[in-house]
Amino acid sequence: MRKNFGTKPWFYPLPVLIIGTYDSNNQADAMNAAWGGLYDANLIELCLSAGHKTTKNIKEKKAFTVSFADAKNVVACDYVGMVSANNTPDKMEKAGFTTRKSDFVDAPIIEELPMTLECRLVKTTEDGNIIGEIVNISADESILNEKGMIDIQKLQPISFDPVNNDYVVIGEKVGNAFEDGNQLK
Ligand SMILES: Cc1cc2nc3c(=O)[nH]c(=O)nc-3n(C[C@H](O)[C@H](O)[C@H](O)COP(=O)(O)O)c2cc1C
Repeated sequence: MRKNFGTKPWFYPLPVLIIGTYDSNNQADAMNAAWGGLYDANLIELCLSAGHKTTKNIKEKKAFTVSFADAKNVVACDYVGMVSANNTPDKMEKAGFTTRKSDFVDAPIIEELPMTLECRLVKTTEDGNIIGEIVNISADESILNEKGMIDIQKLQPISFDPVNNDYVVIGEKVGNAFEDGNQLK
């Protein structure tokens, strides 16, 4: 037996993306976004409400960063998804996030979040969605393995469970992509 739930915004796994932007005074902001993902090999799409400070900042600066929320920073990452810089200008200080400007785009890198996509705004779609080009990915050395590659178990990215409003950590390896299926060929 299966239970029907009807139409819901339920999807697994949903990312927890922390979008970093600057406003016209170069003040940094960050927000939490679960509705976003890879759109092409070098493009990402974000579904952002028009009223967010972040959305206005992206249109102004034509740039943004996307960092993956991690287990270590759950409280701050949730906080930036609950409070707007529209009415809380010291949101970043309250979150405990410190920033420096990306070397590639006019958007902030959040020092506490170790992996970041640095993106240039390509366009806003007719539905208001943001399409950005990934011009660089940077990662703190603390999350690299002995080969110098990103180690997901060190990164400990989190996923948003929209059914239970939980954050869960991602990381347990259960297989090898483009390889395990060979067993059935
Ligand atoms: C788990 C979670 C996921 C969210 N996902 C989105 C999203 O995909 N799109 C969106 O527009 N807002 C989303 N939000 C809400 C924004 O993060 C929130 O409104 C934020 O305060 C906007 O900040 P800003 O006005 O400083 O940009 C999410 C919030 C949480 C907690």
